[in-house]
Amino acid sequence: MILDIINKKRLGEELSYKELDYFFNGYLDGKVADYQMSSLLMAICINGMTDEEIFALTKIFIDSGDVLDFSDIPGIKVDKHSTGGIGDKTTLIIAPIVASIGVPVIKMSGRGLGYTGGTIDKLESIPGFRIDLSDEEIINQVHKINLVVTGQTAELVPMDKVIYALRDVTGTVSSIPLIASSVMSKKIAGGADKILIDIKVGNGALLQTKAEAKKLSELMIKIGEVYHVEVRTIISDMNVPLGYAIGNSLEVLEAIEVLKGREKDNNLVELCYELATEMVSMGKEINKGEAYNLVLDSINSGAAYNKFLEMIGLQGGDIQGVCISDDTYKIKSSVSGTIKKINALELGKLSLALGAGKLSKEDEIDYTVGIKLNKLVGDTVKKGDVLATLYIKGDIPEFNIDDIFKIN
Ligand code: URA
Repeated sequence: MILDIINKKRLGEELSYKELDYFFNGYLDGKVADYQMSSLLMAICINGMTDEEIFALTKIFIDSGDVLDFSDIPGIKVDKHSTGGIGDKTTLIIAPIVASIGVPVIKMSGRGLGYTGGTIDKLESIPGFRIDLSDEEIINQVHKINLVVTGQTAELVPMDKVIYALRDVTGTVSSIPLIASSVMSKKIAGGADKILIDIKVGNGALLQTKAEAKKLSELMIKIGEVYHVEVRTIISDMNVPLGYAIGNSLEVLEAIEVLKGREKDNNLVELCYELATEMVSMGKEINKGEAYNLVLDSINSGAAYNKFLEMIGLQGGDIQGVCISDDTYKIKSSVSGTIKKINALELGKLSLALGAGKLSKEDEIDYTVGIKLNKLVGDTVKKGDVLATLYIKGDIPEFNIDDIFKIN
């Protein structure tokens, strides 16, 4: 049976719910070996899946754990997910904005693997901040302040945890059907009424082309329809990093600047306003123009920043304790001109080499290291100007400045 299923997918044939259930649950039960699951995952990567197979796999994932129910909390709960990118600290910014406008936000975030930390790693750079809230604590906090950002519990789609770990080391992460089932199963099991997905495209993202992103978007919307959950998607650029900061503490500090309204007119602020507007429009069932005005008010009045502080306080964090390394290295321009490109992937690799991310689950993240860009795309620079500051511990990793900045 195990071999028959692998061969069927190798030949590009459709697997039934029963076959997928047998194989994936067999893996959880230890009856299917790592190498057999890897082989099936690679066959899925190469031959894809039909919509029916993707719906079946999503259901199998959801059924592997708890499905949370937040129906006691009044209001439309809107969740948001990003497929991940360099310098992506949007959750830290938009969750408090949206909650301050009266839309309840229950966000269960993951850790990063690869170039930088995930939202949970970023929040853990705030000393004392708890990311392991129980279901009861989550519900109490949302009743109190409309907002919680916490880690995914072990019972939320446990199948995704083991399959993702295997995908990560078998070159099968960027399969569109597998991404769709992985993300949507967690969002649906997470109990949201409506879901916003930020699909990233570019060299610093899982997907490299807009066509792939559109395909993923269509699939996620279809999965939402199966579960009667409204799904909206935004396709956003990940060829350049988001904002100035890459690295956990640095990103928390940048998020605070945006929440205080001090950072304006850059790609991070624009994306945050776009995502928050979409979430408020979904949660309050109003048009985007009205939602956008509420988002601006929330930042300008200080309501968003106050909401952020409330959440940090209730979850035990000490915002004054966020610390970045004293040891810095400045990357200077060897030419004068205009910055045409800043390569997200190369900056991701550099931040990983500095210790801001992890390559394997066992690696330790150093929250205090990272990169702060002193210039963004479109800025003019003179020879000798500082392009970026590295916050380091120990040796400076090898890098090629021309791979990161294109100036002419
Ligand atoms: N994020 C997820 O949660 N799952 C994927 O498969 C890819 C990105």
